[in-house]
Amino acid sequence: MDNLRWRHEFRAVVLLMGACAAGVTAVDKYTLAAAERMIAAAEGTLAPVYAPLAEEIAARLDLADKEGIGIDLGSGPGTLIVELCRRTKLHWINGDINPHFFPYFMQKADAAGLGGRVSAVWADAQALPFRADYADVVVSRGSFHFWPDKVRAFGEIYRVLKPGSTAYIGRGLPGNMPLEEAREVRRKHGSGPKYDVDETERELRRIMNALGIADFTIRRPHAGNTAGVNYGIWLEFRKP
Ligand SMILES: C[S@@+](CC[C@H](N)C(=O)[O-])C[C@H]1O[C@@H](n2cnc3c(N)ncnc32)[C@H](O)[C@@H]1O
Repeated sequence: MDNLRWRHEFRAVVLLMGACAAGVTAVDKYTLAAAERMIAAAEGTLAPVYAPLAEEIAARLDLADKEGIGIDLGSGPGTLIVELCRRTKLHWINGDINPHFFPYFMQKADAAGLGGRVSAVWADAQALPFRADYADVVVSRGSFHFWPDKVRAFGEIYRVLKPGSTAYIGRGLPGNMPLEEAREVRRKHGSGPKYDVDETERELRRIMNALGIADFTIRRPHAGNTAGVNYGIWLEFRKP
């Protein structure tokens, strides 16, 4: 009997150690150094991306006169939010799993005169800290491929969207960015994104099917352009 209890206790300690190790690994990923690297990219090679992307999102989703709450999930430095504030009347929330971005983001928003228009909330896409039917729009650039359980994360976005509202989630560059500029961004950003856009499209379709979301559109701007510039992939879906 004692032997059995000892074995149970030993197993519990091992499981606890495993859980702690997993926790430390997760926390280790979301460091100040990781935030600083992304901030440098947003201020450098990726800087030309955010204004046209905000322009494209605002136009496609008809946001110019919309009021309420917008969430940029995995916004990091929040550069996209600053540009979205300039083109909409919404209050924008930077929901990111790495809180080391937040001081930079708030200072940037203040410097742009947008201090009262933004908030920062620690958020894991897989368990969003917002009530159902909360957001008037959810956007995200360059983050969804980091979400381990994407079905759960996209389900969370759907839950949080207000009925009649839209999400715009993707990675890469906006279609309204001229080819030459896009090529320059890709050239400076290294060898370019190493992912299969066809497979990503299939994955996004599987996720929408798994969640029973029928009202969605996938866009692959300038797919197959002769210059071979990868503009990435964007998914728009709506909650009825
Ligand atoms: C490549 S950066 C993109 C940042 C920003 N969207 C941009 O385009 O400048 C990826 C961002 O996703 C965030 N992220 C990664 N996993 C996340 C998760 N599970 N939930 C929320 N944010 C996450 C990271 O902390 C980081 O800010």
